[in-house]
Amino acid sequence: MIAPSILSADFARLSDEMAAVGGPGRGADWLHVDVMDAHFVPNLTLGLPVVESLLRSTDTPLDCHLMIDAPDRWAPGYAEAGAHNVTVHAEAAEDPVALAKNLRAAGANAGLSVKPDTPLEPYTDVLKHYDTLLVMSVEPGFGGQKFIERVLEKVRAARRMVDTGHLNLLVEIDGGINSDTIEQAAEAGVDCFVAGSAVYGAEDPARAVEGLRARALDASAHGSA
Ligand code: DX5
Ligand code: ZN
Repeated sequence: MIAPSILSADFARLSDEMAAVGGPGRGADWLHVDVMDAHFVPNLTLGLPVVESLLRSTDTPLDCHLMIDAPDRWAPGYAEAGAHNVTVHAEAAEDPVALAKNLRAAGANAGLSVKPDTPLEPYTDVLKHYDTLLVMSVEPGFGGQKFIERVLEKVRAARRMVDTGHLNLLVEIDGGINSDTIEQAAEAGVDCFVAGSAVYGAEDPARAVEGLRARALDASAHGSA
């Protein structure tokens, strides 16, 4: 699956930018929405009122990535608004199990994200309550950064836990994904690829999505062969 990140889109034309990659005949499976609060990360983007408007202007499921402090307090609002996935950071959540239950009760899939230096082991049991694991392959905060290859070890570990039935979730990767890096991520076992600058920095964003998907499918076919 491919989830273009609208962080790299033109914020004055978000509706058109979403339509450029989503909707009938277009390739985005989800649209990735980066919520940043200038506390958990140094950058500031958008919040719930904007997400509510985005939900009204697209049929493509929204994948909300909350890079915020106190997600226990704020994340359920995004689920209640109708986001398909609500992803919170393991480093910020106070009670990630209770939070996942609240997100699911509000009708969303629950996602847990880990920064590049956050290990997975302490969260193995917690992840049983989650629908997606978002492995950050850059330090969260900004688009257009370089892919951090060492996080693929975490992807492989998560893939093994899913394949052996210890976890039941989608493995998602976020940061520095482009036509060069997507292959190694696919081989490591990623299910869903977030891509911001590689999609919205391209001349034709819809074609960029299809190009990424083709590379990922090709690489995962080789990876499992
Ligand atoms: C970074 C965000 C990413 C960002 C990825 O903190 O979480 O979703 O949009 O952008 P690229 O694909 O340009 O690295
Ligand atoms: Zn993101």
